[in-house]
Amino acid sequence: MAKRVVIIPGDDAAPEAMAPTVEILKSFNLDITWTEFPSGEEGVKKYGSRQAFDQALRAAIEQSDSTLFGSTNGTTGGLNHLRWGKRTFANVRPARWRPGFRSPLKNPNGIDFAIVRENLEDLYMGVEGDLQMLSSLQVNSRMTHKPLDTTPTGKFAIKVITEEGSRRVARFAFELARKRKAQGGKGLVTCTSKYNMLRESDGLFRRIAEETAKDYPDLSYNQWIVDDFARRIVASPQEFDVVVMPNLYGDILSDAAAGTIGGLGLAPSGCYGENYAYFESIHGTAPDIAGRNIINPTATLLSAVMMLDYLGYTDASARLDRAVSQVYAEGKTLTSDQGGSASTTAFCAAVRECLGKNR
Ligand code: IPM
Ligand code: MG
Repeated sequence: MAKRVVIIPGDDAAPEAMAPTVEILKSFNLDITWTEFPSGEEGVKKYGSRQAFDQALRAAIEQSDSTLFGSTNGTTGGLNHLRWGKRTFANVRPARWRPGFRSPLKNPNGIDFAIVRENLEDLYMGVEGDLQMLSSLQVNSRMTHKPLDTTPTGKFAIKVITEEGSRRVARFAFELARKRKAQGGKGLVTCTSKYNMLRESDGLFRRIAEETAKDYPDLSYNQWIVDDFARRIVASPQEFDVVVMPNLYGDILSDAAAGTIGGLGLAPSGCYGENYAYFESIHGTAPDIAGRNIINPTATLLSAVMMLDYLGYTDASARLDRAVSQVYAEGKTLTSDQGGSASTTAFCAAVRECLGKNR
């Protein structure tokens, strides 16, 4: 049966990376029905309002097997639905250095790890408000041994870590490490959080990861406090394989991970739930370069690679992955963030040429 894929180009420069990616995807002639939306501004115009555009996006997502999502500056909706609506709890953000990637590190050779970011909980529950709202709270601060002072004018944000949420993302991380091990990976899961300070919430996350490790005797497990992990990711990123962490740390550290291999232009991601997954670059909409046809489409292309794999088109996925690697290895047609002067279109033409050569 044909798979149904929704294409959401996003805002600012994101659609310039999405359009040639979709052309390449279509050139594989796979049994996929594409539902393509316009970019944010055009979408709002076409549907009459942001809300109407958002509704159309949600309806299409509901009918689909997967979505390829271009970054949004808030004009394009759908992201909340893709995460919380579709319960995509595991956000996989691989950082693999390939020859030709312009890493700032002296020795990027062998960097190949994947952050598995819990995607629905933590400080991302969107529960914030005026401090006064907590005035009836009868719990002591562990620091002052007194109830929280809610008299100053200020705000709070709530961090929620559940057993179930931690367990499902931990399992996902171990399963991913097992899959990677079968393909030559290290077979190592690392858990990182601030468990020395946030003993209850991050402590729970850590405990569940430790418990889960017992079910995977074929894999190794270790853990680092998140500030130490931040240093390690810069000093010795080669030591990692799969790293599981709560939502906010995952957001921050996946940008750092992308930095180690050569930047956000190179970093794809996939968000997986029980019965849905969607794919998006890690980077934002790059408004400063919008309209110039110079955005690096690699993050979008590699997100498409992950999507093809998820949909079961493993051959096409591997071919596209190889073609991207080849363009970097040749190093002749690179975008400016990677030290070249090629346009987005020229880069994608080079990818297509490689695809044509290795059928
Ligand atoms: C990301 C982004 C998002 C996040 C923003 C756009 C809400 O930074 O996917 O990493 O924080 O999750
Ligand atoms: Mg982010």
